[in-house]
Amino acid sequence: MNVLVVGGGGREHALCWGLSASPLVDTLFCAPGNAGIALDATCVPIAAEDTAGLIAFCKQNKVEFVVVGPEGPLAAGLVDQLEAAGIAAFGPSAAAAQLEASKSFTKELCARHNIPTAAFGRFRDFGAAKAYLAKVALPIVVKADGLAAGKGVRICETRAEAEEACAEMLAGSLGAAGAELVIEEFLRGEEASFFALVHGDQVLPLASAQDHKRVGDGDTGPNTGGMGTYSPAPVMTAALEKRVLDEIIVPTARAMAAEGRPYTGVLFAGLMIDNGAPKLLEYNVRFGDPETQVIVPRLKSDLLTLLQAARNGVLHKVNARWHDDTALCVVMAAKGYPGTVQKGSVIGGVEDAGKMPGVTVFHAGTARDGDALKASGGRVLNVVALGKTAAEAQQRAYAAVQKIDWPEGFYRHDIGWRAIQRTNA
Ligand code: AMP
Ligand code: GLY
Repeated sequence: MNVLVVGGGGREHALCWGLSASPLVDTLFCAPGNAGIALDATCVPIAAEDTAGLIAFCKQNKVEFVVVGPEGPLAAGLVDQLEAAGIAAFGPSAAAAQLEASKSFTKELCARHNIPTAAFGRFRDFGAAKAYLAKVALPIVVKADGLAAGKGVRICETRAEAEEACAEMLAGSLGAAGAELVIEEFLRGEEASFFALVHGDQVLPLASAQDHKRVGDGDTGPNTGGMGTYSPAPVMTAALEKRVLDEIIVPTARAMAAEGRPYTGVLFAGLMIDNGAPKLLEYNVRFGDPETQVIVPRLKSDLLTLLQAARNGVLHKVNARWHDDTALCVVMAAKGYPGTVQKGSVIGGVEDAGKMPGVTVFHAGTARDGDALKASGGRVLNVVALGKTAAEAQQRAYAAVQKIDWPEGFYRHDIGWRAIQRTNA
């Protein structure tokens, strides 16, 4: 079967790498892809937002299954439109993608179905938000309702700061995404992510992961899309995983089905774990980036079979089998990220890094220019290593990072610290 992956980041490279190993795949396409994806798939220059272009391409090239990577096209209804054109697609409908596209939608759903999450209020008006802020405990979290590419959450230490965040967002600093706000109780604890495949009320648990959101070592500096990950997350014991499924993911799948927005695809739960009890921070309606880069290499089962089972509603007929190893990913980003970065710097040594034992390098913002590999974005490379322990995976990943010659890039030096501390404790 011909398969198309939509997107062009590290997540999509990991998906293409996994799908290219499937005996069921004849030709694998990726739109638009990147320089690394081009080694595993045929890249086609169609933007992820170009719905008509993608549908025409699928028809011309007998694409029978589409895997959509990013949230933007999902929220805009790409899966609905592909399916209406007779092309099977993995991912939620626009109606179900509201779980990521509207934080108020998700908070209200949690409230209706007793799904544990932070206490909250919803506001469209500054005066009402200010009156609410006068009564809450600090710190307090101000969130734009809509999709804001990771910039929509402000953790505020003072009331003045929270009022300013509300005023800015309501005045349009994040465009339409900030026309409505969620003001939310600050949760303490340890963050972790959990992924499950869902079709209606069928749920197949996949795996846990932990991200490193801050740009700097020791979890300092501004938030980013993610500077490194590992999977599994040691904080996520079997007992906790069961609670996350029973109290959060299964009730959400049932609620969405019961309310006429059945969910299909991968559900990515961002969780706060406090004293062994999980609460939902947010849902994403897609695979994580860079979480996928540490989940796919651990998967023993055929990736295409699992994604098709989610689309076709036969999740009870498949199993997800995993390698026991821990996978750890170090993100290499262009200097200046998450602010503005210079594009076009030359990167060497990626092939040598990829030949190290247990190591795979997934590309994010890269482009080929003749023989040279050049940076073309903020997050540029994902150096992933498998190891028997988090410590071994970390040692291997950083040994591979040393092979990469890219003076204009940087990375965190402490990815995995929490996992290693917990396993050593
Ligand atoms: P979100 O995009 O909603 O996951 O928020 C981005 C980040 O902000 C999360 O990964 C957390 O680190 C932090 N965050 C969001 N909501 C809360 C909360 N209620 N309490 C504490 N931290 C939060
Ligand atoms: N790494 C977080 C995300 O994909 O949203």
